[in-house]
Amino acid sequence: MPFPFPFPSTQSTPLRFLGAGAILSLILLSFVVFGRGTTGTYYFASHSDGNGATGYTLKSPSGNIYSPGQCPGSSEDNTSNTNAEWGFRTERDGNNHGLSESQCLAAFPKLFGDVERMMEGRIGGKLITFREVDELARGGGDGLVRGAVKDGELYIIGFGAMPYTFTRGKATLNSLNRALVAFPDRHTLPDIEFVFSTDDFSNGRSPVWSYSKRAEDEGVWLMPDFGYWAWPEVKIGSYQEIRRRIAAVDEGDNNSKSKPKLGIRFKDKKKQLAWRGSVATNSEIRGGLLSASRGKSWASIREINWSDESDVRQNLLPMEEYCRYMFLAHTEGRSFSGRGKYLLNCRSVMISHKLLWLEAHHGALIASGLEANYVEVERDFSDLERKIEFLIDNPETAERIANNAVKTFRDRYLTPAAESCYWRHLIRRYAAACEFEPVLEEIRGGERVARGVSFESWALDM
Ligand SMILES: *[C@@H]1O[C@H](CO)[C@@H](O)[C@H](O)[C@H]1NC(C)=O
Ligand SMILES: *[C@@H]1O[C@H](CO)[C@@H](O)[C@H](O)[C@H]1NC(C)=O
Ligand SMILES: *[C@@H]1O[C@H](CO)[C@@H](O)[C@H](O)[C@H]1NC(C)=O
Repeated sequence: MPFPFPFPSTQSTPLRFLGAGAILSLILLSFVVFGRGTTGTYYFASHSDGNGATGYTLKSPSGNIYSPGQCPGSSEDNTSNTNAEWGFRTERDGNNHGLSESQCLAAFPKLFGDVERMMEGRIGGKLITFREVDELARGGGDGLVRGAVKDGELYIIGFGAMPYTFTRGKATLNSLNRALVAFPDRHTLPDIEFVFSTDDFSNGRSPVWSYSKRAEDEGVWLMPDFGYWAWPEVKIGSYQEIRRRIAAVDEGDNNSKSKPKLGIRFKDKKKQLAWRGSVATNSEIRGGLLSASRGKSWASIREINWSDESDVRQNLLPMEEYCRYMFLAHTEGRSFSGRGKYLLNCRSVMISHKLLWLEAHHGALIASGLEANYVEVERDFSDLERKIEFLIDNPETAERIANNAVKTFRDRYLTPAAESCYWRHLIRRYAAACEFEPVLEEIRGGERVARGVSFESWALDM
C-alpha cells in the first residue's frame, strides 16, 4: 500500500540556504500540501468535523504541570547510573544518546532556557490546542513535517513537498527517532502531536518547531538543526565524522594508519580571521565583514560564488581546515548559520556579530569575563579590527577563550548526548504546554483508519 504522502522522486538541492523569496515562490507554486494524499484527507480529522472522528483527546487538567524529575510515570531517577555523584564526562558520555532526565539536566543546565520559557508562557496562558496544530499543518507550506510521539514511538502524519529541504526533513526525523530509541524509558515520555519546519526560519506561527528563532518569535519552539545528523549539501558528512575530523586537527590523530599525527597547538595556528561564503545570503552582515577586513593582514576572508565551480574549487575551505586559524568569523545568513556549530567545535576563537537568530545551544555562549567562550562584535563590524588586534597582542587571552569554547561546546553542549537530551526535553515541555494528546486511529465510515505511519515503515518508503 503506498503511503499517502507526496514524495518528490528526485531532489536537486542547491548549495545554499533557502531565501525568503524562494520560500515564498515555492509556497505560491506548490499545490502539494498537507492532507493531499492518494487516499483522501482522512488524517486531518478534527474534533469538530461531525464525522465522529477526533484525532485527539483532551488531557485531564492536572496532567500537565510537573517539575524536573517528577515527570509522570518516571522511574529513571532510581536507576543505578543516576546518583548524587554522577557528573558528565565527555569521553564516557558525550556520544550517549540515552542519558536519563536528571543526567541531562545536570550535564546541560543552560540548554533548556528557551523551552522552559515557552512552556511557562503557555501554562500561564492558554494551552496549545489540537486546532492550533491542525491549522499550522494545513496552512504552513512545503517545508513542514507533521508528526506524533506516542508511547515513546515516532509517527509521521504529513510530510511536505520539500523541493529544497528534503534531506533536512529526513535528517531531523532520524535525529528525533534516535533520541527516542536510545532512551530506555521512552514509554514514559508523554504523547504529543507537533509540526516542524525544515526551512531556515519558520513562518513564526505557533506552535511550530524550528531550527532557529528570534527573541520575539513567541510562538516558535527551538529544535536541534539537521546538521546533528548530517549536512550533505555542503559536503559535510555525519556530525560524528565532522567532529572526528575537527578533533584530529586540534588534538592529533593516533588512529590513522600512517604514523600518528600531532594536533596543531593554538599558538601555531594562523593568526588570522577565517571566513568563506556567499555574501548574497545576507549582504548587510556579510558585506560588512568583507568591507571591515578588506586588505587587512589579519584577514583570510573570501567570497564564494556557489554557482561558479572553479571559484568554489579555489576558495572552499573544508570545514576542519577552519580550525587551523586562530580566529573564525561567524555570520548569520538568511537566518542562523548552520556553520556555527562546527566553528565552536574548533579550539579557536569564534568572533560573531551580535546575533539575532537563536539556536538551542546559544544559552551557553559567554561574551565577556574569564569564562568567555567567544568574542562578540557589533553588527556593522566597526569594532572588529580593535578586538582582533587586542587578541593578537594578548595571545593568552585568545587561547583561554578557545579552550573555554572546547570545554563548553565541543565537549559538552554540542555533543550528540546534548542533542538527544534536548529532543526529549522538548517533548516533555511541549507536552506540558498542550491540552491534548493525539489519537492516531479514527473511525471513518465504520472503519478504523490510521492517522500516521510509524517512523520505521515511513523510512522504508523513501
Ligand atoms: C527508589 O528506590 C528506593 C530505594 O530502593 C525506593 O524506596 C523508592 O520507592 C524508589 N522510588 C521510585 C520512584 O521507584
Ligand atoms: C595521541 O598520542 C599523544 C602521545 O601519546 C597524546 O599526547 C595525545 O593526546 C593523543 N591524541 C589523541 C587524540 O588521543
Ligand atoms: C557567479 O558565477 C556565475 C557562473 O559563472 C555567474 O553567472 C554569476 O554572474 C556569478 N555571480 C557573481 C555575483 O559574481
